[in-house]
Amino acid sequence: MPDVKHVAIIMDGSGRWAKKRGLPRVIGHRQGAESIRACVKASQNLSITHLTLYTFSTENWNRPKHEVKTLMNMLEEMLIKETPELHQKNVKMNAIGRLDDLYPKARKALQDSLDLTANNTDLVLTFCLSYSGRSEIIDAVKKIVQEDRTEHIDLDSLDETSMKSFLYDPSLPAPDLLIRTGAENRERISNFLLWQIAYTEIYFTKTLWPDFRKKEFVKAIEEFKKRERLFGRV
Ligand code: IPE
Ligand code: IPE
Ligand code: MG
Repeated sequence: MPDVKHVAIIMDGSGRWAKKRGLPRVIGHRQGAESIRACVKASQNLSITHLTLYTFSTENWNRPKHEVKTLMNMLEEMLIKETPELHQKNVKMNAIGRLDDLYPKARKALQDSLDLTANNTDLVLTFCLSYSGRSEIIDAVKKIVQEDRTEHIDLDSLDETSMKSFLYDPSLPAPDLLIRTGAENRERISNFLLWQIAYTEIYFTKTLWPDFRKKEFVKAIEEFKKRERLFGRV
């Protein structure tokens, strides 16, 4: 049975959840916060070491300004509200992406959360913010060129291990399982963790993110346990 240590989630479907109920999209996003709580709790119970959440993509900046503004304000608000409990649960909060593009108040709240929980030793909870897999690879290439200018890099030494050291968080292992919720007619990656998911198992569910709670999370893990991971071998 394959072991699951790192779960990554594309938390999609909050807008549709609200629309189905005739509510504004933002209500769906708010409702999604409870699903994050449920997944954190379930992860800790299942001894998962890393939970990585696609929270805001680089492409999400192209949404209507009022939605972007609401999401940034909610991010700030949620970080301030949820961090004490996460800290108490020994969760280490982490973030990857072009973090300096976040609204300043959200950036500040994020930094406070990262600082407070930096020495925690249970679940590593990574928020992918202003993140995309392509921009991560571009930013890695920029770092490589920069380093080569200051201290010449031996080209032959560049391999998968050294490449990983230029990613946003070199300590982040590859996900074992990638879940996309709200995946009806949307079985896609949407620019998430392109480098890291080379051999990740993928699980699509129609369940919309605000409805994705403990039962759904456990179901995804059970499904994962039936998978046969070969990594190119026989
Ligand atoms: C998740 O939900 C993506 C975020 C940027 C928060 P959506 O807002 O894309 O929800 P749907 O896909 O429109 O239902
Ligand atoms: C992916 O969802 C991004 C996040 C969950 C943050 P989107 O709703 O932005 O993806 P597309 O547009 O359906 O591909
Ligand atoms: Mg969506």
